[in-house]
Formats: sequence, C-alpha cells, structure tokens
Amino acid sequence: MRIFNTMAARAIPLVPRSLIRRISRRYIAGETLCDALVRIRALHTAGFRTTIDVLGETACSAGQAESMTHDYLDLVQTLGAENMRTELSIKLTALGLQLDGDACMARVSMILRAAAAHGISACIDMEDVRCTQKTLDAFLRLEAEGYPVGIALQAYLIRTNEDIVPLQARKSPMRICKGIYAEANEHLVDRASSDRSAINAHFVRHVSSAVQAGSFVGIATHDALLIDTLIDWLQRERVDRSRFEFQMLLGVCEPLRDRLLAQGFNVRVYVPYGQDWYGYSTRRIKENPRIAGYIVAAMMRRGRAG
Ligand code: FDA
Repeated sequence: MRIFNTMAARAIPLVPRSLIRRISRRYIAGETLCDALVRIRALHTAGFRTTIDVLGETACSAGQAESMTHDYLDLVQTLGAENMRTELSIKLTALGLQLDGDACMARVSMILRAAAAHGISACIDMEDVRCTQKTLDAFLRLEAEGYPVGIALQAYLIRTNEDIVPLQARKSPMRICKGIYAEANEHLVDRASSDRSAINAHFVRHVSSAVQAGSFVGIATHDALLIDTLIDWLQRERVDRSRFEFQMLLGVCEPLRDRLLAQGFNVRVYVPYGQDWYGYSTRRIKENPRIAGYIVAAMMRRGRAG
C-alpha cells in the first residue's frame, strides 16, 4: 500500500485541477481575504494563534511582485481595521527576490512598516537553496532596521548548522521546520536516506540550541514523535511556555494540534489563502502519500464507472 501511495504522489501532476481544487479546500482558507478572515476568527476563538500567507510563489515580473505587495497591504489594512492580532508569513520570491533584490527589499519593508503600525509581526518563509543566502541577508537587514520579524530555517539543510549561529547570537525569532523543497543530496543532512525522520536529530538540536540562546522558537512540525521528544526536553529544562510555540499547517493533523492546545501549549496555525492554490495544495498532497493514494484510487473508480 505504501508503494502504491508513493507512486500515486508522483502521479499528482496528472490529476485534473478540478479534483486538486476540491482537495485543496482542506489546506487553504479560500480564495479571498473574506474567506481567510472567517477562518482566522474561528481559529482565534478556539484559542489558536495564526500566521497568514497570501498564496503565490516566484514572481516572474515586477508587475506580479507589485500585485502581491498590494495584496499584503490590503490584508494588513483589513487586519488592522478588525484589530486582529496575527502574524504574516511572507515568501520573498513572491515579492521579486529573484528579479531585483533592492526592489524586493523596498516592497517587503513597505509591508512590514504597515504591519508594525498595527502591531502585526511577520515571519519570512525559507524557500529553495537558490534563495537561502539572499533570504538570510534580507532578514538580517530587516531585523537590523527594527522590524518585528522572524525567519524560517530548514533542518534538512546542512548549511543550517552554520546559518543558525549568528541568528542565535542576536536572539532572532525563528521557525524551525524540516524543509519542503526537492533539493540535491549535496545540500541535505542525510544524503543516503529519503526518510524524513533522519532529519529529526538536527531539528531537535536547532530547537534546543535556539531556545537556550534566548530566541523565541516556532516548532513547525506535525511529527508526533518529534513533538513528544521536544516536549520532554522543554519540560526537563523547565523552559517557560511563553518562549516557544508549536506551529502547524491548516488542515494537517488537526487532532494533534487540538491536543497540544488542550495541554496548554501555544499553537499557531499557518493559514494560506488566495488564488494561487494549485502549487501549495499539490505540495501538501505529495507530503501525505495516503491522500495521494485516495485521489488516484478515486480517479480509477471514476474511470471504471465511466
Ligand atoms: P513529516 O513530513 O515527517 O510528517 C509527519 C507526519 O505529519 C506524517 O507522518 C503525517 O502523518 C503528517 N503530515 C505531514 N504532512 C501532512 C499533510 N500534508 N497532510 C496530512 N498529514 C500530514 N517548509 C519550508 O521549506 N519552508 C518554510 O518556510 C516552511 N514553513 C512552514 C510553516 C509551518 C507552520 C509548518 C507546519 C511547516 C512549514 N514548512 C516549511 C513545511 C515543513 O518543512 C514540512 O515540509 C512539513 O511541515 C511536513 O513535515 P513535518 O515536520 O510535519 O514532518
């Protein structure tokens, strides 16, 4: 079954967009800001924190990057008007990082300035290795300019062992995640294995060293064993719960998320919304071969019925 599911995950590009769209409802709040606000309100009422991502990756033109900037500014204005305490998640390539670094910095600064005026902070998502250095450089500049901003680091990258050191020295807020992009083996901490659990030792080390250094840490994973290991460590070290939070993606492992909240931990849900749902949703589906298996099985049934 596992092999079938994995093969199914590889076949996702062949699945009709209409079917992906139906499944994507689990992972995205909707296509409009209105949809996102409804979901965020419900999450806040239930006791969760949120971080909001306007869907969209690598801008191919300055026009696209500008349009994304306006989407974020609209979002910030609405959140401010509604007095919603939340966080923004931002992908720098969507603001033109790969087109013109200075223009990208001007756009992200504009968004962060507007957000800060409403007491809203941000986290810079980490993208593929072509962007890692530029993203770190941009983050360090933004932080030095005084914006309330954190950065995501990927435990699957070897270079994170070094990248995290200056961030810890500055007590920068950070989100530790495993990493989602398909990278060449030479960049990865475990070259021999595609088993993501091999990355866990690095994940634990980064979280514990960052907490010990005094950074606020977002523990972004749905891996129950990894979470238990970290809770054991955090409790043994008597780390105050205000110094870290768990973070999970909308629609993923909700029972685990609810359990952590019920145990009194802070839990933040990553809420993406927008028109550009396809890339985000197919990444989520590929991460969960069981869902990919269901989709392909459903298509085969439909094919036989037709
Ligand atoms: P792992 O992949 O080992 O999954 C653990 C378990 O979780 C699985 O066994 C399965 O049960 C469940 N699960 C995982 N994904 C699922 C899914 N889609 N549907 C249902 N169940 C699923 N990456 C990145 O490169 N840059 C970034 O900036 C971010 N930002 C980010 C923010 C937040 C809040 C989260 C939670 C994650 C990210 N990520 C990310 C993604 C991250 O790197 C990683 O790919 C996913 O979180 C999946 O890895 P896990 O740590 O959950 O472990």
